[in-house]
Parts: sequence; C-alpha cells; structure tokens
Amino acid sequence: MKESVDLLIYNIKEIVTPIAPYPKKEKLIKDISIISNGAIAIKDGKIYDISSNEKIRDLYKGEFEIDLRNENIVLPGFVDPHTHLLFGGSREDEFLLRLEGADYLEIQKRGGGIIKTKNDTFSFPEKILIEETKKRLNSGISYGITTFEIKSGYGLNIDKEIILLEIINKLREESKMKIIPTLLLHLLPEDEEIDVFLNDLSDILPYIIEKNLSHNIDIFIEKGAFDIETSDKILNKAKNLNFKISLHIDQFNDINGVDLAIKYNANSVSHIDLTKEEKLYTLGKKNIVGIIFPLERLIFSKEPKRGREIIDSGVPLSISTDFNPGTSPSLNFPLIISLSVIRESLTVEEAINASTINSAYALNLSDEIGSIERGKRADLIIFELDSFKKIPYFVGMNFIKYVIINGEVMKVV
Ligand code: NIG
Ligand code: FE
Repeated sequence: MKESVDLLIYNIKEIVTPIAPYPKKEKLIKDISIISNGAIAIKDGKIYDISSNEKIRDLYKGEFEIDLRNENIVLPGFVDPHTHLLFGGSREDEFLLRLEGADYLEIQKRGGGIIKTKNDTFSFPEKILIEETKKRLNSGISYGITTFEIKSGYGLNIDKEIILLEIINKLREESKMKIIPTLLLHLLPEDEEIDVFLNDLSDILPYIIEKNLSHNIDIFIEKGAFDIETSDKILNKAKNLNFKISLHIDQFNDINGVDLAIKYNANSVSHIDLTKEEKLYTLGKKNIVGIIFPLERLIFSKEPKRGREIIDSGVPLSISTDFNPGTSPSLNFPLIISLSVIRESLTVEEAINASTINSAYALNLSDEIGSIERGKRADLIIFELDSFKKIPYFVGMNFIKYVIINGEVMKVV
C-alpha cells in the first residue's frame, strides 16, 4: 500500500537545490545539488520526501499529482530579503532625470526621493495602499518569490512607521507567503529634534516587540540620512531588545557603516557597493550576509563585477530586488538572476544559492526555507525549462509555470 501525500511532483528533469552547510560562501557557494529524474512528495505544507522518481513513486500516492514528463525543472522559491513593497505613487520623473545626470541624494535634499514617496504614501486611503501592495505580492509570486521581507520606511516619523508596520502585518496575516516585517528608519524626522526622536524610540521599540509588529530593524546610513553616531545610539537600544539588525550601508558614499554592522553583529548588510575589501573580509568571518541589488546597480551604472569581489572576499552573498519606487522598480527575479550572472560575474550556481538559502540565512530562516529538504516548507518553483542554466540565459523572460507556497499550487499559466 502506498502512503498518501497531499501533492506529488514527479518526472522532474532536475531538482535543483542548495545543500548544507549554510550560509554558502567562499568555494562552497558554487555547490548545488541536482537530482535528475527526481520526484518530491509534499504533505501538510512541507517537503515530506525527495528522491529519485522511482523511489518516490513506489512509496507514495498523491491526492494531487503533477507530471513534469522529464521536461521541467524545480527550484526552491526565491527568498527576497530586502524590499520596500509598501508605498504609494511612483517616481518615473526622477528616474528619467537621473538618467540625464541628476543626483539621487540631491533630489532627496530638494524634497523629492524618499520624501516624495512619504507624501504620496499618506495621500492614499489605507485600503488602496493594501490593494496596491497585494498586487505587488502577486506579481512577486509570478516571478517565483515565495518569501518577502517588507520594510516600513516611508513614514519618516515613528507614529507613521507604526501605521506602516501594522499594514505590513495585516498583509502577513492574510497572505500564504512568508512575510517578514522590518522597521526601517529612512531619514531623520522633519518635525522633531533628534533628542526627542531618540527618546521616543526608547518608548516605541519595546512596544514594537511587545505587539509583535517587527523583530527586525534597518537604518539607512548615508549622507543626508542617518549618520554613524545617531545610528550607533539607535542600534544600542535595539540590540538590548534583541532586534535583529540589517543595515543600508555604503550605497552612495563609503561612510564606514560596516563597523556598526560588526559591532552589533548584524544579520545582513545591504548595498555595500563602496565598502573596502578588508572590511568585507571581516563580514565574511562573522557570517554577516552581504545583500546586493543587481538591478539597482545597473540603473545607477555602478561598476560591474561587485558580486564577484564580495564572494571572493569571503562574504556570504545574497541577491535581492530591493523593490522600491526610487532605486529599483522591478520584481522580475529571473531578470535579477540574469543580471547577477551577466554583470556581477556570478556563476549560475552561485546566483541560485544567493537568491535562496543565503537570503533565508539573512532572515534567520535557513532551517525553514531556502532549499528543498525534508521537513522544510514546500515553497517551490516549477520552470518550464529543461536546464537551470537557461534561467539567466533567457534574459527578462519568465518561464515559471507553477509556484507552490506552503504546499499549495499558486499559479498555473
Ligand atoms: O534601498 N536608499 C535607501 N533606500 C532605498 C531607496 C528608497 C527610495 O528611494 O525610495 C534603497 O535603495
Ligand atoms: Fe533598500
């Protein structure tokens, strides 16, 4: 008698998955496991078994079965560890101005940039914001994203950031996807003295933890945003409350944010476009994940091959969309993989590790998601392709046929 499972996917041309140890770094980030002619049994939203086609079909019968006829491949769902998915409006005018030479931080100084998005965001009723963000979540699923970290950050004062965190949590409760809310402090509040702001934070950070609004904090450490001294004070408070720390650093200027990441043992640092090599080396030793954004790097014409340099410095690398209306307005994850191979000099295997398990590790979730292993959440992508090497090759195209989230088939094209 065969054991019954909820879902059986069989005749899989290639099951492509990261393999332990995690995070993947140095030479091991090139390692990937490929099971040819495999099958996966799924039960109660989890990977129940994974092996050769013969073995799995001998053992199990699925309530629902998908036959891939040895033509299609399966990967773990993409984990996007850094997004600004919740906002109102758009910034195409600035995008075009920047392509003519205007400077991102100058635009911000004149009340554009993040400040414009804050105004736009709070000009919409909550219902519309939620609808727009749900559309983005669905778009993310269609590109294979099964986990989203979503930052607040367009409140620019703490009360408004709380409103945004509450909305992100509503989306989290309603969605099948895994959603991780993060408190992002983007710019100093316009309407408050810095000491008052820091005092308010001392009251509000415990509230955020207590109400389960977020256990993660991020700060935009940059000229014209938060400086090192203020960030240090904030991180000190946050660390005492066990917030997990991720930081925007060295995106447009090297202001040595990396020392703070090391001091407070951050989970991840994002951008690190201008971080010096010797500092990268320390990040690697501490297993602090470096998150880069191949699309944002392309839009800002940043020097290519940075991804390669970061890996070669020993940092566990993650790649992400950084989806936001200012610097990176696309959720096309297969495109991000293409760019990381074409422009950042990653191998395809490295790009897959960087978009799955290393991102899961950055979110402290590598025991639960980011690879196809027994007991992990059944978050999977079925590509209508017969080799994983074709993912970066078909630039900008989307060959995703099904996305499975928590064992449920979400999209059938
Ligand atoms: O990661 N630069 C800081 N934060 C975002 C951009 C936000 C925006 O421009 O709206 C980033 O690039
Ligand atoms: Fe960002």
